[in-house]
Amino acid sequence: MGLPVSERVARRKKILVLYHSQSGTMARLAHCFAQGAAREEEVAVSLKQAREAGLDDLLGCDAIAVGSPEYFGTMAGMIKDFFDRTFEAARDKTVGLPFVLFVCAGNDGRGALAQMERLAAGYKWRKVQEHARVVGPPTAQDCAAMEELGQTLAAGLAFGIF
Ligand SMILES: Cc1cc2nc3c(=O)[nH]c(=O)nc-3n(C[C@H](O)[C@H](O)[C@H](O)COP(=O)(O)O)c2cc1C
Repeated sequence: MGLPVSERVARRKKILVLYHSQSGTMARLAHCFAQGAAREEEVAVSLKQAREAGLDDLLGCDAIAVGSPEYFGTMAGMIKDFFDRTFEAARDKTVGLPFVLFVCAGNDGRGALAQMERLAAGYKWRKVQEHARVVGPPTAQDCAAMEELGQTLAAGLAFGIF
C-alpha cells in the first residue's frame, strides 16, 4: 500500500517550466513540455511565463526547464529579465539545481541556447538532459519530443536520479 495522499502531496517535487512567447510558438512547446512532465504523478508542474514568475518560483522548485525563442541571436528579453531579477538572491540557494533548456527559432537558435547555458553556469545549475532546439514551425514530432523531454525530467526527479 502506498503513502496516504496527504503525505504524497507534501513530498511532491516541483518542476518550474518557465517560458516566454511573443507569437505563440514557445507557448505551444512549453505546454507540451509541461504536459509530458505532468504524466509523472509524483511531481508537481508549474508552468509560468517569465514575466509573471519571480524569486519564490525559483527558490520553490526542485528542477527548472527554461523555454525561450531566439530573438536577435540570443534569448528573449523577458527570460533575461527573469534572471536579472533573481540572480543576486538566488545564486547561492540554487546551486546544483537540475535544469534543461529548450529553444525555438526561425532558422538557428544556437545563440539563445549558448547564452542561456552561460547564465545557468553562473547559477551553477546542473545540466541533466540534452537541450532541445526547434527550428521553424513545430511539427507533431517536435511536440512529442518536448513531451518526452518533460516526462524524462519528471521521472528523473521522482526516482531521485536528478
Ligand atoms: C524580433 C525577432 C527576432 C528574431 N530573431 C531571430 C534570430 O536571431 N534567429 C532565429 O533563428 N530566429 C529569430 N526570430 C524568429 C523566432 O525565433 C521564431 O519565430 C520563434 O518561433 C518565435 O517564437 P514565439 O512565437 O514563441 O515568439 C526572431 C523573431 C523575432 C520576432
